[in-house]
Amino acid sequence: MSVFYVPSVNLIGKGVINEFGAHVKELGFKKALIVTDHYIASSDILPKVIKPLEAEGIEYVVFEGVDPNPSCKNVYDGLAALQENGCDFIISVGGGSPQDAASCISIMATNGGKPQDYEGLHKSKEKGLPVVAINTTAGTSAEITINYVITDEERKVKMVMVDKNSLALISVNDPELMVSKPANLTAATGMDALTHAVEALVTPGAYGVTKKLSIGAIELIKEFLPRAVANGHDIEAREAMVNAIFLGGMAFNNAGLGYVHSMAHQLGAVYHLPHGVCCAMLLPVVERENAKRVPAAFRNVAKALGLHTEGKTDEDCAAYAISEIETLSEMVGIPKKLTELGIEEKDFDFEYLSKNALIDACAPGNPFMPTLEETIALYKELF
Ligand SMILES: [Fe+2]
Repeated sequence: MSVFYVPSVNLIGKGVINEFGAHVKELGFKKALIVTDHYIASSDILPKVIKPLEAEGIEYVVFEGVDPNPSCKNVYDGLAALQENGCDFIISVGGGSPQDAASCISIMATNGGKPQDYEGLHKSKEKGLPVVAINTTAGTSAEITINYVITDEERKVKMVMVDKNSLALISVNDPELMVSKPANLTAATGMDALTHAVEALVTPGAYGVTKKLSIGAIELIKEFLPRAVANGHDIEAREAMVNAIFLGGMAFNNAGLGYVHSMAHQLGAVYHLPHGVCCAMLLPVVERENAKRVPAAFRNVAKALGLHTEGKTDEDCAAYAISEIETLSEMVGIPKKLTELGIEEKDFDFEYLSKNALIDACAPGNPFMPTLEETIALYKELF
């Protein structure tokens, strides 16, 4: 038996940002806490969010204090702004970081406690305060998923929360909000989306519906990510990437992820590297190991990446899939080695990161459970 989670209302396509205010009004909300970051707060995106709210007479307060890899402090600051201003719902505007911070603020607003209380699977008792999740980067799918990630700055770990009570009420995916994103961000978030689709396809948690969603996402990403990176204003490519993240997001939200994410979370928590870059670098490394154990799972990946799989062995399919992933990664300019990001092997705490990867909430979704030694060896490959 499988349960399928997706927000109740999902606005997708060019110009949908202009319509979301009417949906909010219909639901009767009065005052929003807009949760975002400094970059978006000073860009031309925020006025595009505010205009439809003002048109419907809905009040708002802007909280722009979300950092990349959002911390517990970001969450406490946002919660204080929500309570001081008497807001009755949240509008999250951004990529993964504002979406994740908003999810945690929403859960704490109705459940109390501290972020650490919600680490793991479905730990909250009450539904979170309603969230309207407006996505501005084609990648994380955080606007439609029940997962969120908050960094515990004291322990230097990323806490993964999987909680059905954190699901947004309305998601908004408008490609016109994404055209100004720089090429490196488009590449990183696009490779994060590819990682979601691939991990959701090879996990034992995949089932009929989620497999088809993953395949659709991979096909679109292969065709349109290089175009979106080459020309951010290519609206056809941006719209295709919006469709890809929606498909891939639904897939992993319901099938789960795997060890690429478990290991990527640790790199983000300790070295503050962009999540999508960590995923992109780790994807071929981890999938090469997965393919040794479950090569048959890679037939679908290879097919979605363009291989005619008839007559090919599972091993051929896996080798093709991994090589295509590496080619795509190189094409969009993802670094191959951690040294290119200024991290030296001699300073790298292999044991600390590996131990935390083993207990990351995404690890059980992987086709096999690596040992500590195997995890250390996987991190070594990044050098
Ligand atoms: Fe991700």
